[in-house]
Amino acid sequence: MASSTVRPEDHHQDRSVGQDVARRLLDSAAKLSYDPAAEVDWDTPLDPDHHGASPEWSTLYGTAYWQELTEVQRKALTRQEAASVASTGIWFEMILQQMVLRDMYAKDPTDLRFQWALTEVADECRHSIMFARGAAKLGAPAYRPRRAVVELGRAFKTLAFGEAAYAAILVAEEVLDVMQRDWMRDERVAPFVRTINNIHVVEESRHMKFARDETRRRLRNAGPVRRHINSLVVAIASYYIVTSMVNRDVYANAGLDSERARSEAGTNEHHKSLMRSSCSGLMEFLASARLLTKPALFFYKRASLI
Ligand SMILES: [Fe+2]
Ligand SMILES: [Fe+2]
Repeated sequence: MASSTVRPEDHHQDRSVGQDVARRLLDSAAKLSYDPAAEVDWDTPLDPDHHGASPEWSTLYGTAYWQELTEVQRKALTRQEAASVASTGIWFEMILQQMVLRDMYAKDPTDLRFQWALTEVADECRHSIMFARGAAKLGAPAYRPRRAVVELGRAFKTLAFGEAAYAAILVAEEVLDVMQRDWMRDERVAPFVRTINNIHVVEESRHMKFARDETRRRLRNAGPVRRHINSLVVAIASYYIVTSMVNRDVYANAGLDSERARSEAGTNEHHKSLMRSSCSGLMEFLASARLLTKPALFFYKRASLI
């Protein structure tokens, strides 16, 4: 049992390493943060000649149905898909903010990690408002996950702690990141969406660094039972986050044959392999943190993350 005991000098070293990371993140945020209300062009009306996302990221790209769609239909679809991803982003950012606030409740406010955590909550608050305005500008209705998933999220945000909370945060942020990196550089995508994605990519890179650091730190003192349980919790959370990204109503709202679109999207190998290749870095991290247990792998495979 002696190996799992935290010695005072370990604790001290742990704290000072955590302080260095938080200091760098706070400095970086002070240098480069955005106010979406001022940075994003909210006033110019939406040009329907633009995509909402890079077409290669569409859930239908590469299917027979995609081949039959006109350019106008494809653009309408990627606009709904981008709005859905943003709306799912809001859902997850609210879960995340509550988990981070719960984690920091009554902790030492002079600790720089405490100050960084609140900076991150403030970022997410601005992001969610930005995503809400962006989705509205894309002409989308409110997209929310299925009722059962909303309730699972409610339980998760109330109960998850330590590495389970921070690793799930990391997965959601990484999956959004890989898409948004492509969209922000793509000239086919509406300029205001590119700005939104750019802001998000810059600010989230700091969040991901913190999430990776916290996941590692929390796991250091976790025994095998806790690690196994939390690996599974993170994998299940990731499965529902990733499979909720594109709402099943986007096809009807883009004027497509919903039944056919859902069925072809469900078996779209192009989309699955794009997800897998984009998430290889994330999976490497989870493996190095020893969170890719066998039961966890089952859910990552089902979500086409590996
Ligand atoms: Fe965010
Ligand atoms: Fe974030």
